[in-house]
Amino acid sequence: MSRWRRRERDPRDTARAPSPDDRQPVLPYPNGWFAVATSGEVRPGRVLTRRLKGEDVVLYRTTSGRLSVVRPFCPHLGAHLGHGGTVRGDNLVCPFHQFQFDPEGTCVRTAYGTPPPKARLATLDFREVDDLVFVWSHAEGRAPQWEVETLLGPDYPAPHCTPRSLLAHPQDVLENFVDIGHFGPLHGLSLSVLGDPVYEGHHLKVAYGLRPAGAKSGKRYSTLPTMRLTIEGLGAVLVAADDMKFGFDLRARICVTPVDINQSDLRVSVALRPTGAGRRRVARVAATLAPKVFARAAAADTKRDAAIWAYSRYQEQPRLAQGDGPIMPFRRWARQFYGDPAQAPARTG
Ligand code: FES
Ligand SMILES: [Fe+2]
Repeated sequence: MSRWRRRERDPRDTARAPSPDDRQPVLPYPNGWFAVATSGEVRPGRVLTRRLKGEDVVLYRTTSGRLSVVRPFCPHLGAHLGHGGTVRGDNLVCPFHQFQFDPEGTCVRTAYGTPPPKARLATLDFREVDDLVFVWSHAEGRAPQWEVETLLGPDYPAPHCTPRSLLAHPQDVLENFVDIGHFGPLHGLSLSVLGDPVYEGHHLKVAYGLRPAGAKSGKRYSTLPTMRLTIEGLGAVLVAADDMKFGFDLRARICVTPVDINQSDLRVSVALRPTGAGRRRVARVAATLAPKVFARAAAADTKRDAAIWAYSRYQEQPRLAQGDGPIMPFRRWARQFYGDPAQAPARTG
């Protein structure tokens, strides 16, 4: 018999695996651009189903490379195009009666050789930026209110993207970046905030100097760069740090996507560009390995946050202390991403 026997659960132990239902009631879904896939996941000819705000969205790329994002249900008799739908040339083919739809969503062909009905698939606004696919989602159906900006200049290699699932609301995840107080106790980082946060429309900009907590501000960490963060809506934070140790500029986009109530997908997309000494020496190898190392470190840190978010409750009136970050200014800024201000960051138990 194995000496590693599973321990019986102590019936008095109320700790258990978290579930999305633990965190009721919740913040509403925010409006904005949300990453749903990497570009590489939607190769030509591929049909992909992703979840966004409690609904499926279907992505497909034509054989000539054109991407489309549509609602899943066929206007003919309602088949789900993400389950058995295929790409034929430029068209998406429904798995049921094999009617075909062009990239604009128009039904262009039946399988019977008869004229197609006047029917369209509902298409969604999307952008493909820095190897990620973003879908616009607004509770009142408004058109995109800003553009997704590129973070990677021409010298950057393709980013490395690491996905994971979280039991959290996007606002929890992004609030984490202004929650100065938790960086030391939870992540073991000592952080100096450089200047005041800047609130510019859908952008919130902050800059930090980082070093491990307790480290002397001497040589070893004095070369750590300034991290410039731009929170972009409630869907992403862009991280930029130039002249990192070993000669790199770093760019990362940390995307959070509401997939269902209290459930989000997190994608950490990282690219490094060698500079100076790094360019001459191990540039090529390091530029491919370093993003994975960074992504792994980010994943380890996120794991600590995730364990908190999974069980926590949104406190509308947090009892803050000196040393906390600008939590309430962040929340006031975040209100713009909720359609109806009456139900914005509000409901608590
Ligand atoms: S349900 Fe799609 S073609 Fe009939
Ligand atoms: Fe954190």
